[in-house]
Amino acid sequence: MALPIAVLVSGSGSNLQSIIDRIESGALDAEIKLVLSNKPDAYGLLRARNHNIPALALDHTDYPSREAFDAEMVRAIREAGAETVVCAGFMRILTTEFLNAFPGRVVNIHPALLPSFPGVHGQADAADYGVRISGCTVHFVDEKMDHGPVIIQAAVPAFPGEGGDALGGRILALEHRIYPQAIQWLAEGRLRVEGRHVTLRDAGRPPAPAPENALVSPALEQGF
Ligand code: GRF
Repeated sequence: MALPIAVLVSGSGSNLQSIIDRIESGALDAEIKLVLSNKPDAYGLLRARNHNIPALALDHTDYPSREAFDAEMVRAIREAGAETVVCAGFMRILTTEFLNAFPGRVVNIHPALLPSFPGVHGQADAADYGVRISGCTVHFVDEKMDHGPVIIQAAVPAFPGEGGDALGGRILALEHRIYPQAIQWLAEGRLRVEGRHVTLRDAGRPPAPAPENALVSPALEQGF
């Protein structure tokens, strides 16, 4: 059975698009039951509607507290039939109550090699710092921001003076590959979490051709 997921977005939703595309290509065995945004004008909602995926805007400013907003998200996600929550550019911290509603089933993508450069400007912070390697991280979500156990990371070179946009573009291209891959591993039930360590059970799938100028670990598999 396809993994029933909800995707949370606040903006453009290019990662959402990469998930939709992998589902439609048959590589990713998931079904998006709901796309939910805290921003009514998020372009990600339009992307969902273009693919006949249920899309819902819940404006967080309409709620008296973070808890009240998260409780409404939990209700909507459950009602839609999703069991796993995929944060894709969702710019809000989730409450403990929300995380407890989907234990071990909330994932996020961050545009830096955690634990370096957490927060909302991961790409620019890394570029400004002058690192020569940065990348992206898919991780389980826990109570701390950009903190939970790491599922997969991709590293790319960074160049002096290029700025966060150029570096971010290189990173985003890999986000679009590692996020659908991580969700497929979840769908296959191949991830085991022990403390901070996530191990991937080998299903013997052939590897994808290694991306040029990047290091991805664990390696991408065919279809990603
Ligand atoms: C991505 O860089 C993601 O890593 C970060 O927010 C950005 C979202 O981009 N969490 P998009 O909305 O998926 O295009």
